[in-house]
Amino acid sequence: MPHNDRIGALPKAELHLHIEGTLEPELALDLAQRNGVELPFADADQLRAAYRFENLQSFLDLYYALTVVLRTEADFTELAGAYLRRAAAQGVRHAEIFFDPQAHIHRGVELDTVVAGLQAALETAPGLGVSTRLIMCFLRDLSEADALAVFEAARPWFGTVITGIGLDSTEIGNPPAKFTDLFRRAREAGLHRVAHAGEEGPAANITDALDLLQAERVDHGVRCLEDPALVARLAAEQIPLTVCPLSNLRLRVVDTLADHPLPRMLAEGLLATVNSDDPAYFGGYVADNFHALADEPALGLEPETLRLLAANSFKASFLDEQTRAAYLAEVAAHRF
Ligand code: HPA
Ligand code: ZN
Repeated sequence: MPHNDRIGALPKAELHLHIEGTLEPELALDLAQRNGVELPFADADQLRAAYRFENLQSFLDLYYALTVVLRTEADFTELAGAYLRRAAAQGVRHAEIFFDPQAHIHRGVELDTVVAGLQAALETAPGLGVSTRLIMCFLRDLSEADALAVFEAARPWFGTVITGIGLDSTEIGNPPAKFTDLFRRAREAGLHRVAHAGEEGPAANITDALDLLQAERVDHGVRCLEDPALVARLAAEQIPLTVCPLSNLRLRVVDTLADHPLPRMLAEGLLATVNSDDPAYFGGYVADNFHALADEPALGLEPETLRLLAANSFKASFLDEQTRAAYLAEVAAHRF
């Protein structure tokens, strides 16, 4: 990042970040060697060259394939520790972090290994000036029965280490209706609820995430613009949308950044935020996403719009009101 980077220094909350998506090629290769895992890539450059995607599925295939290097508690601690240091350097003051337990359990890594490893890293976050929450995501291409079994196994961490659930992976063919029991159980357990919807799938998935799952926040949600009634509702209810511009570009949800719908979303009065999704794969962490937007003249984002996006990120978070207000005051006082 540039020296004296005022966009980098702008205080932000990151609300859409898959910890498995922060696995940088160098760390993947280190962990592979440490764990005696063979990867079909000779070096970091070769691996990075594989980060060219046609769509969501072609990314997910590589994302799941590379999880094989994550085996021990220490591996998860190292992964999350590296993310937290990078995030802190990019102005992230609060991070609500997703993890995909099923991606690990189904290849023989215990849930306890994953959660304990992540928890150890999150305990170091206050020392970096970052507050955190952990959100357990479920893979929508697997069955609801599979999700329910993992959900029940995670109960010991509810309310302490794990504060919410999410829904991710292959959207097309796996609508929200598939997971109504899971989300009802999460509600009954007092957990927060978010869901990916309207990334590759239709606007109806956003409506269903709200009505059938009672999702409090929608991840991506960019296709809401195809349904004016839905846009009006999202604006009236100020339902947060966690938008990920570089992800949308790399997964070809948009053709170019100049076509990104974020300015239209803001003009509609939506509570949109900017996030990095899977930064190791998509070419940047959260401040890099802010910079990419600011550097695209066609989007016409002024510094005051960047401030609005940062304020939105804290408004859309699951922070308590007092902490939220303190962060919002810092955003208001920031000088570009
Ligand atoms: N969409 C769906 N599933 C995911 C994503 C995403 O952007 N990133 C990691 N899992
Ligand atoms: Zn995502």
